[in-house]
Amino acid sequence: MNQVPYSQSCENNKSAILAVLIHSFSDVSQVLEIGSGTGQHAVYFAKQLPQLIWQTSDQLAYHNGINAWLAKQPSDNLRAPIELDVTQPWPVNKLENDTLEGIFTANTLHIMSKSMVEDFFRGLGKHLAIKGQFCVYGPFNYGGEYTSASNRQFDKWLFEQNPQSAIRDIEWITALAAAQGLTLVTDHPMPANNRLLHFEKRD
Ligand SMILES: C[S@@+](CC[C@H](N)C(=O)[O-])C[C@H]1O[C@@H](n2cnc3c(N)ncnc32)[C@H](O)[C@@H]1O
Repeated sequence: MNQVPYSQSCENNKSAILAVLIHSFSDVSQVLEIGSGTGQHAVYFAKQLPQLIWQTSDQLAYHNGINAWLAKQPSDNLRAPIELDVTQPWPVNKLENDTLEGIFTANTLHIMSKSMVEDFFRGLGKHLAIKGQFCVYGPFNYGGEYTSASNRQFDKWLFEQNPQSAIRDIEWITALAAAQGLTLVTDHPMPANNRLLHFEKRD
């Protein structure tokens, strides 16, 4: 029996994220999640969004944990993880539908190095369909400033874990997105000083 990993923050933020995804992914038939982590978000969102296929992915080290959650809370529309590291070619041949209309990621951009974030957006530009929707959840800075003392503290902690990790500036993220044809549709405030950025690929 695989050990089931647990993230309290996933339990805390999943309903607020879902309230946005219901609208952002209303016309989407397949979502690729990048960096599924424990798999908790995936089992919850797949159950709540039964009209679409939810494809999990992550680096191989996370697959046992994700599979353990999928075994515990299966859904017909939920798919086992594919190995996806944004620094490598994306294994889009393993997706069920040829067209990738939705991509979701949570709490990954501040973990990845800057060059990994750039790779991530190049992958988005290459693989997300025109009119596709991209939703990213996490903390962001505005005008180079933290939005809260707790985010400042979190960024210090991130640096101590890995000097390449950091809370990203929203202006840098929207510029990377624009270079790949993605326009910011809505910047949603989320609990605990997080944001959910919803982008659409327009060209
Ligand atoms: C803090 S965890 C977030 C997990 C989950 N999405 C959540 O919200 O709890 C960061 C995630 O980023 C993923 N990640 C880091 N670097 C990555 C890379 N180069 N390619 C793909 N995923 C990566 C990790 O594997 C991990 O799943």
